[in-house]
Order: sequence, then structure tokens, then C-alpha cells
Amino acid sequence: MFENYSLAPPDPILGLAEAFQKDPRSNKVNLSVGVFKDDIGATAVLKSVKEAESRLWNTESSKSYLGIDGLASYLTSVKHLLLGKVIDPSRIAAIQSCGGTGALRVVAETIAGQAGQSRIWVSQPTWTNHHAIFEAAGLQVQVYPYLAKSEIALDFSGMMNTLAKQAEDGDLICLHACCHNPTGVDLTLEQWQVLAAFLAERRLIPFFDFAYQGFGDGLREDTRGLHEVLKLNPEAVICASFSKNFGLYSERVGAGLVVTRDAQTSASVLSQLKQNVRANYSNPPRHGAAIVALILEDDQLRSEWEAEVDAMRERICSMRSLFVSTMQRTYPQRDFGFLLSQKGMFSYTGLNAMQADWLRNERGIYILGTGRINVAGMSVGTMDYLCQSIAECLEATSPAVAL
Ligand code: LMR
Repeated sequence: MFENYSLAPPDPILGLAEAFQKDPRSNKVNLSVGVFKDDIGATAVLKSVKEAESRLWNTESSKSYLGIDGLASYLTSVKHLLLGKVIDPSRIAAIQSCGGTGALRVVAETIAGQAGQSRIWVSQPTWTNHHAIFEAAGLQVQVYPYLAKSEIALDFSGMMNTLAKQAEDGDLICLHACCHNPTGVDLTLEQWQVLAAFLAERRLIPFFDFAYQGFGDGLREDTRGLHEVLKLNPEAVICASFSKNFGLYSERVGAGLVVTRDAQTSASVLSQLKQNVRANYSNPPRHGAAIVALILEDDQLRSEWEAEVDAMRERICSMRSLFVSTMQRTYPQRDFGFLLSQKGMFSYTGLNAMQADWLRNERGIYILGTGRINVAGMSVGTMDYLCQSIAECLEATSPAVAL
């Protein structure tokens, strides 16, 4: 039966991470997968997480199942972290999920399973996995333009015009709450306000992917767009990941929140989400969620964690500046100054697939074929090598590009 299976292509992000692991070169640099690294290239466990784990180790008395929707204290804290006091919690149907991906899949599939809701609009470009997740969930995926031709700035009018002309009542609109993946280009507060009013007027459903809270402008600041939208829109979806801001990548900690008009509706939505989870993985794992809940509830752990998130954001910003100034010195013909206004881990460099191949083959530098780089993978020690390699790559490949 299985001999007719064809070989699936490697994942454009995790496939590169696997190739990087196998690469024997000692000076290789990984700017592909979105994982935070410190200046010596380690993805260390946060101190607040270690402390929470040690407390849990001492106090945890059972490994029995969680409820289908997950750990109650975690869900309460997460609602508060994401939404503050903007929404009455009784209007929110919430599940703990296996990472942000699990939230996207379960919520999208639950929506697709209910009559009359089948289209989702994603930005072009978006995280490559959005297409796969939403299609697998049974939604029809449409795209709206996001980047201007320069590929370094937002095409807000293009985005709005397409949605105004083509989106229909009840369509889902996938939005990155902050730190747009893959471009690092975010909406301004004024643009969020315009979008919020437009979504409400056209009765479109905002569907937020919120994976980088704290990596843009700050934990609170990064909720501003989301909150603006929620002020005017009674219904919304928020899929959150705590892989990045808690460094809990392999613990798979996320949450899917559906904001509804009233408590009764939220009870029905929750029952559908739970039915989906039960038929999928039954109930979620405890450990990562227990860590997040403990950190968010405990004043000392929380302030330690907030300082760690600030430090991660500051490191990313300092790598952006160092990259731009080193490129300026190494290859002044090409201005990379636009990276300074982009937010979060990722940026679009403007490098193309051929140049990404060149960097990987010739220098052991891994970036995505779209030109996306993970700024958090840069370091002071490798910056000269990286910039020198990009300069050589541009020299070696530019004539061919011009043809
Ligand atoms: C990324 O975009 O690199 C991260 O979100 C990791 C992933 O799963 O793709």
C-alpha cells in the first residue's frame, strides 16, 4: 500500500533547519528558522522558566490529564496577557493548544466545520505554513497584497482596496498582531484604526496570529493593534504562541481564543473547539502551560520574565543596527537601512532565491529562499563574515539578476 507514496518536498523553513544541522562547516550561520539566539548562538532556557520549572518540580503532585480545553489558570492568565481588560472574559471561548500552529489549526478547522464560513484572507507574503494549515483545515485561502513593490514598506492602500473589493461578509481576515512574519513590516496605530473600522463596517472577522508579543515594541505596546480592532469588532479570533517570548519552543505552548458577542455564544463555540480537540489529540500537555501560568501569576517571576523579554527585544534591535552599519561599511552600494524600521525577528532583505542558494552553498549561511532572515540569529562575532558574504554574493549574482 505505501509503495506508491511520493516523496514530499522538505518544509521551506524547518527543512532548511534540518539541512543546517547536517552541514559540517564550522563557520555556518543559521538565519532561517525563527528561533531566538543569544550572542554565542545558544537558545538558552529563560531564567524565569528555569525557576518556574524548579518550583513545579517541588510542588506538582499529579500527571493526570488536563481538561480538553487545558489548564484553567493558564487560560485565565493568557486572556489577561493578550486582552487586558478590553473584553469581558465570559465572551471568550479559549483553549490551550499545541503551540500557535495547533491553535490556528483547531480554530480554523472548527470554523470551517460550521456552515457558511469558508474563506480566509492572508497577506501576500505570509508565514508559509499559514497556507498549509488553513487549507488542511478546510478553509479556502485568498491573498491580499501586503508589501509595496520596493518590498520594504507596507502597501496599505493595496491591502485595503483588495479587501474592500473582494472580501465578503463573514470572511476571515488573517492579521499578524505584531512583528509580521516574514517581512517585519507592521501597520501603524492609525492604520490599525482604519482597518478596525473597515472590518466592523464590512462584517469581516479578524483572525489574529500573535506569535511575537514583546519582540516589537514591548509586551503591552504590541497588543495595541489587536486592542484597536477589538474595540470596534464584537467577534474575533486570536491564536497565540509562547514559543518565542517564553522560549518554550519544544514545549508547544499556545492558545486559541474566539471572541464572541455574549457568554452563551462563547459556551457553544467552546464546546465545538473541545470536540475538535478531543478528536485530534484529546487534551493538551501540561508542562509548558503550567510554566507560563506560574510566571504570569507570580509577581517576582513575572517581572523577571518581562525583563528577559525586554532583553531579547533589545538584542534583536542591536543586531539590526549592527547589520545595517556593517553592510554600509562593507557594501555601501546597497542600502539596508530599512531594516531599522522593521519589527521583530524577521526581515525581508530583498535577496532572491538564487542569492539565498549562493549564500548557503558558498558560505554556509542559511536564509529562506524568499530572502527572509532571522535577525535574532545574528551575532557580533559572525557579523563581519555575514556582511562580507552578502557583499560577495551581491557582486557575484547581480549581473545575472539584471539579465
Ligand atoms: C518561523 O517562521 O521560522 C517560525 O515560526 C518557526 C516555524 O515553525 O516556521
